[in-house]
Parts: sequence; C-alpha cells; structure tokens
Amino acid sequence: MNLKRLLVERIENRILVGITAFLGIMVLVGWVAINEQGRMLAFDQQHLGRSVEHGAELFSANCTTCHGPDGRGLTGVAPGLNNPSLFGVDFFADIDAKTEELTSLKEEIPQLQADLESDTKTLAEKDQINERLASIQEEYGENPIEQIDAQLADLQNQRQSLLTQMQPAIDKGYDPENPSRLEYLGWGGTLPAFVQTTLISGRPTSESYWPNPMAAWSQRAGGPLRDDQIENIMNYVMNWDRDWTIDDLLAVNQFAVRPGIGGGASDVESVAPNITELQGADLKARVDEIVGEVDGLEADAANGQSLYNGGLGCSGCHSNAAVAPLTELTWPGLTSGDRLSDPALEGYTPEQYLVMSILHPNAYVVPNYPSGVMPQDFGKRLDAQMLADIIAYLESYE
Ligand code: HEC
Ligand code: HEC
Repeated sequence: MNLKRLLVERIENRILVGITAFLGIMVLVGWVAINEQGRMLAFDQQHLGRSVEHGAELFSANCTTCHGPDGRGLTGVAPGLNNPSLFGVDFFADIDAKTEELTSLKEEIPQLQADLESDTKTLAEKDQINERLASIQEEYGENPIEQIDAQLADLQNQRQSLLTQMQPAIDKGYDPENPSRLEYLGWGGTLPAFVQTTLISGRPTSESYWPNPMAAWSQRAGGPLRDDQIENIMNYVMNWDRDWTIDDLLAVNQFAVRPGIGGGASDVESVAPNITELQGADLKARVDEIVGEVDGLEADAANGQSLYNGGLGCSGCHSNAAVAPLTELTWPGLTSGDRLSDPALEGYTPEQYLVMSILHPNAYVVPNYPSGVMPQDFGKRLDAQMLADIIAYLESYE
C-alpha cells in the first residue's frame, strides 16, 4: 500500500519532470531561434556596412571626376546622384494630394444637395446622403464650400512658396513637373536596379548631350569593375537615401538633361534635322529660312524659359560662365554688336545667330569655350515652335 503510493507519486513526479524538461527545451530552442535572427541581421548589417565602405572608396576613385566629390554632380559635366530627383522625391506630393481631395469634395457637395432634392432617390438613400452631408459639415463647418475654398487657396500659396524656394534648382535644370527621374525615363524597375544597369552598360548615347558620356563600367561590357565592386558602388549610392529636404535639392549642382522632350524625340517635328551637315553660305541660307518660319509663329517666352531651364537643360550649362556663355549676356552681346563684329559672322542678324548657335553650335564656337560641348542635335530635338519660344526667352534679356 505504502509502496504503491510511493510508485504513483514517483510516476507523477516523472511526468512532471518530463513536462518541465520538455518546456525547458522548447524555451531554449525558441531563444536560440529568436537570437539567430538578430545575429543574422547584425551580420547582414555589418556586411552592408562593409559594402558601402568599399563602394565609397570605389566612388571616389572612379566617379567623382564627373559626378562630384559628394555625388551632387558637376555643372555641365554630369548630373547629381545624391539628388532627391534620382530618388523619386516629389516635394509637392502632400500638397497635391490634399488639393485633389478637396477639389473632388467641392464637386461632391452640390451633387449631394441635388440628389437630396431628386425624386428618384429612395428615403433610405436620402438618409445616407444626409449622413454624408452631416459628416462633411462636421469637418468643414456650416459653410463647407467656403471653408474648402479657403483651404485650397492656402494650399496654392504653399505650393507657390515651395516653388519660389526651388527656383535656384529649377535654374539648374530641375523640373518640378517631372520630379522623379526614373518616372520621367519610364523605368519600371527599382532604383538599385537602375543604378546597377547604368553602371554595367553606361550611357554611350548621352554623348549627344554631355561632353563626356558615361562609360560602361562592368567587366562584362568591357569596363574595369567586377560584379561585386559594382554592387558595392550601388550600395554606396543607395546609402544617400534619407528624409530629403529642399536644402538637399538646392545642394545639387547639376540635374539630368532630358533629351527627346515632349514624350520622346519621335513626337517632335524636327525643325532642321540635318542642319549640321551645312556650312558657309548653305548654312546661312538654311538659317534664313528657319528664321522666316519661326517669325511666323506666336512665341511664348514663358514656355521658352521652362524648356530652357527644365525640359532641355540648357540652363544646366548656361548658368555657369566657366562652362558656357551666361544666358543673360547672350542677347545683349548680340544687340550691342560685340559678338557679331567677328568677321566669321558677317551678314548674320542677332536672331539668325541665335538660330545658328542653337541648331549647329560647332559652326561658330564662342571664343574661349570648347567646341563640341554644346549638344549638336537640337535641330532634331526641337520643333519650330520650341525654337521660337526659346528665342523669345533669350531675347527677354535686354
Ligand atoms: C566621364 C564622366 C563620368 C564618369 C567618370 C562617371 N559618370 Fe555616371 N554619368 C555621366 C553622365 C554624363 C551621365 C548622364 C547620362 C545621361 O544623361 O544619359 C551619367 C549618368 C549616371 C547615372 C544615371 C543618372 C541619371 O539620372 O540618369 C548613374 C547612376 C551614374 N552615372 C553613376 C556613375 C558611377 C557610380 C560612376 C563611377 C563608377 C560614374 N557614374 C562615373 C558621366 C560620368
Ligand atoms: C552641355 C552644355 C550645354 C548645353 C546643355 C547647352 N549649351 Fe549652349 N553652349 C554651350 C557652350 C560650351 C557654348 C559655347 C561654345 C559654342 O559656341 O559652342 C554654348 C553656346 C551657346 C550659344 C551662343 C552663346 C553666345 O553668347 O554667343 C547659345 C545661344 C546657346 N548655347 C544656346 C543654348 C540653348 C538654347 C540650349 C538648350 C536648348 C543650350 N545652349 C544647351 C554649352 C551648352
């Protein structure tokens, strides 16, 4: 009897010990599993940190000559990569979303009121409409439309003041209407993939609008860098991502130049696709013709300005006298006769000179500036109206 009790007790004890041991092991396994994740994360972070460090070294050895020591680009040489535009930042996103929301609300209210009067709505539907109207009034007061208009005006002011702050960047080629570089290019992939692809194959075609195009860097395309080095540089570039501010935008020295503005060069009816084949009297005769065509159009200097500063990136070069003649000095230099006193330009009027220097820059190279830096393909990329607008803009500097 006594022995039996002892045994039972012992069996219970064993079960208890067994359960305790089992739970103990589970806790231990769980603990290791949880820690393993942390350990792996720390390992990944260390790995990424080392990769970014290597990337920084490779960047300063290979990329800074064109993209600048801090990746903010060099005027007239290459666009900034440490640049909110490359990272797809839209500084207007919040303002625009709120504006859109309020605008559609403003359209909804009269519709709701009309529905309330309407015979075709059931009582249940009208209850719903009343509920909706009540909730709008709760948020926007007795006179919601007035309140909404006031808020819309305020948003418009915010937008305008942001735009004013951005002006120095716009002068360097930033286009607030197309804030995201990748979206503008129609790139469907991620930014790291974009950086990697650009590094691997380069941008040989950018030769037509940059003095030194971006070469292919990958050994796979005949360049100097291994795949792991390319990945390190990519990680370094991605490491610039942060909470972007307007100051970051203003720190960029050069924005990307956009060839084929207007939805791609193919949409543009080129004003003079083959003009660079002409010289001397033939060139002069063709320029004469183009001036005739342009003079017949109604020019829009404001549009010319936005093409010049944004779409075509002219200002990217022409806002720094070390890179290209200053925009504001070109027209005064022509009307004062300074530029046109050069015997090479005999017979050219100021307007003819502008047409020639935009469409066939190498036909006459401004003294003290290199030839071949100004893109040679504007004859293909501009139509007559764009040219007329740009000329009107340049002429606005008296
Ligand atoms: C010889 C000058 C030069 C060097 C050196 C150079 N690049 Fe570029 N890079 C350019 C130019 C010019 C562009 C603009 C090409 C275009 O607009 O199509 C460009 C474009 C890019 C772009 C795409 C940016 C965009 O907005 O389209 C990336 C990314 C880039 N370069 C990364 C690098 C990295 C990283 C290195 C160093 C391994 C490097 N580049 C070295 C001239 C250079
Ligand atoms: C990549 C830099 C670059 C870009 C982009 C560029 N230019 Fe130029 N531009 C130059 C340089 C350099 C010169 C001086 C050398 C020469 O005459 O070609 C010049 C010369 C000119 C001249 C003659 C200036 C004078 O004072 O005599 C005009 C006009 C001109 N550019 C207009 C434009 C317009 C318009 C655009 C855009 C559609 C544009 N440029 C884009 C670099 C550039």
